[in-house]
Amino acid sequence: MIRAEGLSKTFRRYEREPGVLGSLRTLFSRRHTTVTAVDEVSFEVSAGTRVAYLGANGAGKSTTVKLLTGVTTPTSGRCTVDGIEPYRERVRNSGNIGVVFGHRSQLWWDLSVPDSFRILKHIYDIDEAAYRRNLSLFRDVLDIDALGNTPIRELSLGQRMRAEIAASLLHTPAVVFWDEPTIGLDLVLKEAVRALANQINREHGTTIFLTSHDISDISAICDQVLVVDQGRIVHQGTLAALLRTARHRAVHFDHRGDESPGQVAARIEEALTGTSVSIDDQRRVTISFPVDRLTAREVLTWVLHRFDVTDCFAPEPDLQTVLREIYGGRQPARSTAE
Ligand SMILES: Nc1ncnc2c1ncn2[C@@H]1O[C@H](COP(=O)(O)OP(=O)(O)O)[C@@H](O)[C@H]1O
Ligand SMILES: [Mg+2]
Repeated sequence: MIRAEGLSKTFRRYEREPGVLGSLRTLFSRRHTTVTAVDEVSFEVSAGTRVAYLGANGAGKSTTVKLLTGVTTPTSGRCTVDGIEPYRERVRNSGNIGVVFGHRSQLWWDLSVPDSFRILKHIYDIDEAAYRRNLSLFRDVLDIDALGNTPIRELSLGQRMRAEIAASLLHTPAVVFWDEPTIGLDLVLKEAVRALANQINREHGTTIFLTSHDISDISAICDQVLVVDQGRIVHQGTLAALLRTARHRAVHFDHRGDESPGQVAARIEEALTGTSVSIDDQRRVTISFPVDRLTAREVLTWVLHRFDVTDCFAPEPDLQTVLREIYGGRQPARSTAE
Protein backbone atom coordinates (compact mmCIF):
# COMPACT_ATOMS: atom_id res chain seq x y z
CA MET A 1 0.00 0.00 0.00
CA ILE A 2 2.81 2.39 0.92
CA ARG A 3 6.23 1.96 -0.65
CA ALA A 4 9.38 4.05 -0.34
CA GLU A 5 12.47 3.28 -2.43
CA GLY A 6 15.68 5.12 -1.67
CA LEU A 7 13.57 8.10 -0.68
CA SER A 8 15.63 11.18 0.18
CA LYS A 9 14.94 14.79 0.95
CA THR A 10 17.54 17.42 1.64
CA PHE A 11 17.03 21.04 2.54
CA ARG A 12 19.36 23.97 2.13
CA ARG A 13 19.60 26.06 5.20
CA TYR A 14 21.08 29.48 4.60
CA GLU A 15 23.22 30.85 7.35
CA ARG A 16 22.43 34.28 8.68
CA GLU A 17 25.18 36.38 10.08
CA PRO A 18 24.22 38.75 12.88
CA GLY A 19 23.68 42.48 12.38
CA VAL A 20 22.85 44.62 9.37
CA LEU A 21 26.24 44.16 7.74
CA GLY A 22 25.95 40.46 8.38
CA SER A 23 22.61 40.14 6.63
CA LEU A 24 23.98 42.10 3.67
CA ARG A 25 26.91 39.75 3.50
CA THR A 26 24.50 36.78 3.70
CA LEU A 27 22.65 38.13 0.66
CA PHE A 28 25.76 37.92 -1.46
CA SER A 29 27.65 34.94 -0.13
CA ARG A 30 24.63 32.61 0.37
CA ARG A 31 26.59 30.24 2.56
CA HIS A 32 24.43 27.28 3.38
CA THR A 33 24.39 23.90 5.01
CA THR A 34 22.59 20.90 3.56
CA VAL A 35 20.27 19.16 5.98
CA THR A 36 19.48 15.56 5.11
CA ALA A 37 15.99 15.17 6.55
CA VAL A 38 15.24 11.82 4.87
CA ASP A 39 18.21 9.68 3.87
CA GLU A 40 17.61 6.94 1.29
CA VAL A 41 14.72 5.45 3.16
CA SER A 42 13.14 2.24 1.86
CA PHE A 43 10.18 0.45 3.37
CA GLU A 44 6.93 -1.18 2.52
CA VAL A 45 3.66 -1.08 4.41
CA SER A 46 0.97 -3.56 3.39
CA ALA A 47 -2.70 -2.68 3.25
CA GLY A 48 -4.58 -2.78 6.55
CA THR A 49 -1.44 -2.34 8.67
CA ARG A 50 -1.32 0.06 11.60
CA VAL A 51 2.22 1.32 11.52
CA ALA A 52 4.04 3.77 13.76
CA TYR A 53 6.81 5.88 12.31
CA LEU A 54 9.10 6.49 15.27
CA GLY A 55 12.11 8.68 15.73
CA ALA A 56 13.57 11.47 17.84
CA ASN A 57 12.82 15.12 17.19
CA GLY A 58 14.14 16.13 13.79
CA ALA A 59 14.57 12.51 12.66
CA GLY A 60 12.64 13.24 9.46
CA LYS A 61 9.19 11.90 10.31
CA SER A 62 7.15 14.91 9.22
CA THR A 63 9.21 15.28 6.06
CA THR A 64 8.48 11.63 5.19
CA VAL A 65 4.76 12.19 5.77
CA LYS A 66 4.92 15.28 3.54
CA LEU A 67 6.54 13.20 0.80
CA LEU A 68 3.94 10.44 1.15
CA THR A 69 1.07 12.92 1.03
CA GLY A 70 2.44 14.90 -1.92
CA VAL A 71 3.05 18.11 0.01
CA THR A 72 6.68 18.04 -1.08
CA THR A 73 8.78 16.31 -3.75
CA PRO A 74 11.74 14.01 -3.04
CA THR A 75 15.31 15.10 -3.80
CA SER A 76 15.92 11.53 -5.01
CA GLY A 77 14.24 8.14 -4.82
CA ARG A 78 10.52 7.63 -5.05
CA CYS A 79 7.48 6.61 -3.11
CA THR A 80 4.02 5.37 -3.95
CA VAL A 81 0.77 5.17 -2.07
CA ASP A 82 -1.62 2.63 -3.55
CA GLY A 83 0.47 2.72 -6.72
CA ILE A 84 0.28 6.51 -7.07
CA GLU A 85 3.28 8.82 -6.77
CA PRO A 86 1.78 11.43 -4.44
CA TYR A 87 3.77 14.49 -5.58
CA ARG A 88 2.96 13.73 -9.25
CA GLU A 89 -0.73 13.06 -8.83
CA ARG A 90 -1.74 15.03 -5.78
CA VAL A 91 -5.43 15.17 -6.58
CA ARG A 92 -5.83 11.48 -7.40
CA ASN A 93 -3.81 10.58 -4.32
CA SER A 94 -5.84 12.83 -2.04
CA GLY A 95 -8.98 10.79 -2.73
CA ASN A 96 -7.25 7.76 -1.20
CA ILE A 97 -5.71 9.36 1.82
CA GLY A 98 -6.69 11.24 4.96
CA VAL A 99 -4.15 13.58 6.51
CA VAL A 100 -3.64 15.21 9.88
CA PHE A 101 -0.64 17.40 10.58
CA GLY A 102 -0.89 18.25 14.27
CA HIS A 103 1.33 21.28 13.75
CA ARG A 104 -0.41 22.64 10.68
CA SER A 105 -4.10 22.90 9.95
CA GLN A 106 -5.58 21.16 6.92
CA LEU A 107 -8.84 23.05 7.32
CA TRP A 108 -10.00 26.50 6.26
CA TRP A 109 -9.30 28.92 9.09
CA ASP A 110 -12.24 31.21 8.40
CA LEU A 111 -14.87 28.51 8.08
CA SER A 112 -16.77 26.67 10.78
CA VAL A 113 -16.51 22.90 11.15
CA PRO A 114 -19.95 22.18 9.61
CA ASP A 115 -19.17 24.42 6.59
CA SER A 116 -15.75 22.80 6.12
CA PHE A 117 -17.28 19.34 6.22
CA ARG A 118 -19.91 20.28 3.63
CA ILE A 119 -17.17 21.48 1.30
CA LEU A 120 -15.16 18.30 1.85
CA LYS A 121 -18.28 16.28 1.06
CA HIS A 122 -18.40 17.94 -2.36
CA ILE A 123 -14.64 17.78 -2.99
CA TYR A 124 -14.51 14.07 -2.24
CA ASP A 125 -17.92 13.39 -3.70
CA ILE A 126 -18.98 11.47 -0.59
CA ASP A 127 -22.39 9.84 -0.91
CA GLU A 128 -25.07 11.03 1.47
CA ALA A 129 -25.44 7.78 3.43
CA ALA A 130 -21.68 7.37 4.04
CA TYR A 131 -21.42 11.05 4.99
CA ARG A 132 -24.22 10.77 7.53
CA ARG A 133 -22.80 7.56 8.95
CA ASN A 134 -19.37 9.12 9.42
CA LEU A 135 -20.77 12.33 10.91
CA SER A 136 -22.74 10.37 13.43
CA LEU A 137 -19.63 8.38 14.38
CA PHE A 138 -17.58 11.57 14.86
CA ARG A 139 -20.43 13.11 16.83
CA ASP A 140 -20.29 10.16 19.24
CA VAL A 141 -16.55 9.74 19.46
CA LEU A 142 -15.14 13.25 18.97
CA ASP A 143 -18.14 15.33 20.12
CA ILE A 144 -17.77 17.53 17.05
CA ASP A 145 -21.25 19.07 17.45
CA ALA A 146 -19.92 20.85 20.52
CA LEU A 147 -17.58 22.83 18.24
CA GLY A 148 -20.65 24.66 16.86
CA ASN A 149 -20.30 27.34 14.21
CA THR A 150 -17.10 28.86 15.55
CA PRO A 151 -14.52 29.62 12.84
CA ILE A 152 -11.64 27.16 13.04
CA ARG A 153 -9.15 29.92 13.85
CA GLU A 154 -10.97 30.52 17.15
CA LEU A 155 -10.92 26.91 18.30
CA SER A 156 -8.44 25.69 20.91
CA LEU A 157 -5.74 23.29 19.75
CA GLY A 158 -7.62 20.31 21.18
CA GLN A 159 -10.91 21.40 19.55
CA ARG A 160 -9.19 21.92 16.22
CA MET A 161 -7.54 18.49 16.41
CA ARG A 162 -10.96 16.87 16.90
CA ALA A 163 -12.14 18.58 13.71
CA GLU A 164 -8.93 17.68 11.84
CA ILE A 165 -9.18 14.01 12.78
CA ALA A 166 -12.84 13.87 11.72
CA ALA A 167 -12.04 15.67 8.46
CA SER A 168 -9.26 13.20 7.66
CA LEU A 169 -11.74 10.31 7.90
CA LEU A 170 -14.79 11.90 6.31
CA HIS A 171 -14.33 10.22 2.90
CA THR A 172 -13.36 6.83 4.41
CA PRO A 173 -9.86 6.91 2.86
CA ALA A 174 -7.85 3.72 2.32
CA VAL A 175 -4.84 5.19 4.13
CA VAL A 176 -4.58 7.75 6.90
CA PHE A 177 -1.42 9.70 7.64
CA TRP A 178 -1.63 11.11 11.11
CA ASP A 179 1.38 13.21 12.11
CA GLU A 180 1.01 13.98 15.82
CA PRO A 181 -2.80 13.68 15.87
CA THR A 182 -3.25 13.73 19.64
CA ILE A 183 -1.41 16.92 20.58
CA GLY A 184 -3.63 19.17 22.66
CA LEU A 185 -6.09 16.36 23.43
CA ASP A 186 -6.94 15.39 26.99
CA LEU A 187 -6.64 11.80 28.14
CA VAL A 188 -10.29 10.91 27.48
CA LEU A 189 -10.12 12.21 23.90
CA LYS A 190 -6.79 10.53 23.28
CA GLU A 191 -8.39 7.25 24.23
CA ALA A 192 -11.34 8.03 21.96
CA VAL A 193 -9.01 8.70 19.03
CA ARG A 194 -7.12 5.47 19.67
CA ALA A 195 -10.40 3.53 19.73
CA LEU A 196 -11.53 5.29 16.54
CA ALA A 197 -8.31 4.35 14.73
CA ASN A 198 -8.78 0.72 15.66
CA GLN A 199 -12.45 0.80 14.70
CA ILE A 200 -11.87 2.17 11.19
CA ASN A 201 -9.02 -0.26 10.69
CA ARG A 202 -11.27 -3.15 11.71
CA GLU A 203 -14.33 -2.06 9.73
CA HIS A 204 -12.73 -0.72 6.55
CA GLY A 205 -9.24 -2.26 6.60
CA THR A 206 -7.84 1.29 6.70
CA THR A 207 -4.04 1.49 6.68
CA ILE A 208 -2.79 3.76 9.45
CA PHE A 209 0.54 5.58 9.29
CA LEU A 210 1.10 7.36 12.57
CA THR A 211 3.71 9.51 14.23
CA SER A 212 3.29 10.51 17.83
CA HIS A 213 5.28 11.74 20.77
CA ASP A 214 2.84 9.92 23.00
CA ILE A 215 4.17 6.39 23.39
CA SER A 216 0.75 5.23 24.60
CA ASP A 217 -0.75 6.18 21.21
CA ILE A 218 1.72 3.83 19.55
CA SER A 219 1.07 0.90 21.86
CA ALA A 220 -2.70 1.38 21.66
CA ILE A 221 -2.95 1.79 17.89
CA CYS A 222 -0.01 0.18 16.10
CA ASP A 223 1.10 -3.38 15.47
CA GLN A 224 4.05 -2.51 13.23
CA VAL A 225 6.85 -0.02 13.76
CA LEU A 226 9.37 1.74 11.57
CA VAL A 227 12.11 3.38 13.59
CA VAL A 228 13.97 6.17 11.86
CA ASP A 229 17.23 7.57 13.16
CA GLN A 230 19.16 10.35 11.47
CA GLY A 231 16.93 10.04 8.43
CA ARG A 232 17.46 6.27 8.06
CA ILE A 233 15.30 3.29 8.97
CA VAL A 234 16.98 1.36 11.78
CA HIS A 235 14.19 -1.04 12.70
CA GLN A 236 11.23 -2.38 10.85
CA GLY A 237 8.91 -5.08 12.15
CA THR A 238 6.36 -5.79 14.81
CA LEU A 239 6.16 -3.76 17.99
CA ALA A 240 6.74 -6.97 19.99
CA ALA A 241 9.98 -7.70 18.10
CA LEU A 242 11.19 -4.16 18.75
CA LEU A 243 10.54 -4.55 22.48
CA ARG A 244 12.58 -7.77 22.50
CA THR A 245 15.65 -5.81 21.33
CA ALA A 246 15.80 -4.02 24.71
CA ARG A 247 19.28 -4.17 26.20
CA HIS A 248 18.07 -3.10 29.64
CA ARG A 249 15.22 -4.14 31.86
CA ALA A 250 14.09 -2.99 35.26
CA VAL A 251 13.16 -4.46 38.62
CA HIS A 252 11.16 -2.36 41.09
CA PHE A 253 10.76 -3.01 44.79
CA ASP A 254 9.54 -1.48 48.07
CA HIS A 255 11.14 -2.42 51.38
CA ARG A 256 11.35 -1.69 55.09
CA GLY A 257 14.63 -0.55 56.63
CA ASP A 258 16.53 2.50 57.81
CA GLU A 259 19.31 2.68 55.24
CA SER A 260 19.46 5.99 53.34
CA PRO A 261 18.62 5.94 49.59
CA GLY A 262 22.29 6.66 48.87
CA GLN A 263 23.39 3.63 50.90
CA VAL A 264 20.79 1.38 49.26
CA ALA A 265 21.85 2.45 45.77
CA ALA A 266 25.55 2.06 46.50
CA ARG A 267 25.06 -1.42 47.99
CA ILE A 268 23.12 -2.66 44.94
CA GLU A 269 25.35 -1.12 42.30
CA GLU A 270 28.44 -2.51 44.00
CA ALA A 271 27.10 -6.05 44.19
CA LEU A 272 25.35 -6.23 40.81
CA THR A 273 27.78 -4.95 38.20
CA GLY A 274 26.32 -3.01 35.31
CA THR A 275 23.17 -1.95 37.17
CA SER A 276 22.05 1.58 37.89
CA VAL A 277 19.68 2.38 40.73
CA SER A 278 17.18 5.17 41.23
CA ILE A 279 14.97 5.70 44.27
CA ASP A 280 11.85 7.89 44.26
CA ASP A 281 10.19 9.99 46.99
CA GLN A 282 8.12 6.99 48.11
CA ARG A 283 11.37 5.07 48.59
CA ARG A 284 10.53 2.77 45.67
CA VAL A 285 13.77 1.35 44.30
CA THR A 286 14.27 0.82 40.56
CA ILE A 287 17.19 -1.28 39.39
CA SER A 288 18.00 -1.02 35.69
CA PHE A 289 20.09 -3.98 34.56
CA PRO A 290 21.74 -5.09 31.29
CA VAL A 291 20.02 -8.21 29.93
CA ASP A 292 23.25 -9.65 28.59
CA ARG A 293 24.63 -9.89 32.14
CA LEU A 294 21.69 -10.53 34.42
CA THR A 295 18.18 -11.94 34.37
CA ALA A 296 15.18 -10.52 36.17
CA ARG A 297 15.11 -13.72 38.23
CA GLU A 298 18.72 -13.24 39.40
CA VAL A 299 18.13 -9.62 40.34
CA LEU A 300 14.88 -10.41 42.18
CA THR A 301 16.46 -13.32 44.05
CA TRP A 302 19.39 -11.17 45.15
CA VAL A 303 17.05 -8.38 46.29
CA LEU A 304 14.74 -10.76 48.22
CA HIS A 305 17.71 -12.14 50.16
CA ARG A 306 19.13 -8.77 51.16
CA PHE A 307 16.14 -6.52 51.80
CA ASP A 308 12.95 -6.75 53.83
CA VAL A 309 10.86 -6.55 50.65
CA THR A 310 7.16 -5.61 50.84
CA ASP A 311 6.49 -5.54 47.08
CA CYS A 312 8.46 -6.23 43.91
CA PHE A 313 7.90 -6.64 40.18
CA ALA A 314 9.81 -6.86 36.89
CA PRO A 315 7.81 -5.28 34.04
CA GLU A 316 8.32 -6.13 30.38
CA PRO A 317 10.64 -3.65 28.64
CA ASP A 318 8.70 -0.63 27.46
CA LEU A 319 8.88 1.30 24.21
CA GLN A 320 10.28 4.37 25.92
CA THR A 321 13.30 2.44 27.16
CA VAL A 322 13.94 0.78 23.82
CA LEU A 323 13.71 4.05 21.90
CA ARG A 324 16.03 5.76 24.35
CA GLU A 325 18.55 2.99 23.70
CA ILE A 326 18.24 3.42 19.94
CA TYR A 327 18.54 7.16 19.63
CA GLY A 328 19.57 8.37 23.04
CA GLY A 329 21.78 11.41 23.01
CA ARG A 330 22.20 11.63 19.24
CA GLN A 331 22.23 14.79 17.16
CA PRO A 332 18.85 15.27 15.42
CA ALA A 333 19.57 15.53 11.67
CA ARG A 334 22.85 15.20 9.84
CA SER A 335 24.07 18.39 8.29
CA THR A 336 27.15 19.00 6.24
CA ALA A 337 28.58 22.44 5.62
CA GLU A 338 29.17 23.37 2.01
N1 LIG B 1 11.33 23.26 5.08
C1 LIG B 1 12.50 22.96 5.69
N2 LIG B 1 13.61 23.69 5.47
C2 LIG B 1 14.77 23.37 6.06
N3 LIG B 1 14.95 22.34 6.92
C3 LIG B 1 13.87 21.58 7.19
C4 LIG B 1 12.58 21.85 6.59
N4 LIG B 1 11.70 20.92 7.06
C5 LIG B 1 12.41 20.12 7.91
N5 LIG B 1 13.71 20.51 7.98
C6 LIG B 1 14.76 19.86 8.77
O1 LIG B 1 14.77 18.48 8.45
C7 LIG B 1 14.98 17.69 9.63
C8 LIG B 1 13.83 16.73 9.82
O2 LIG B 1 12.65 17.46 10.15
P1 LIG B 1 11.24 16.79 10.40
O3 LIG B 1 10.91 15.93 9.25
O4 LIG B 1 10.28 17.87 10.75
O5 LIG B 1 11.54 15.87 11.68
P2 LIG B 1 10.55 15.20 12.73
O6 LIG B 1 9.16 15.33 12.22
O7 LIG B 1 11.03 13.79 12.84
O8 LIG B 1 10.75 15.94 14.02
C9 LIG B 1 15.18 18.69 10.76
O9 LIG B 1 16.55 18.91 10.94
C10 LIG B 1 14.49 19.93 10.25
O10 LIG B 1 15.06 21.08 10.82
MG1 LIG C 1 7.43 16.12 13.07
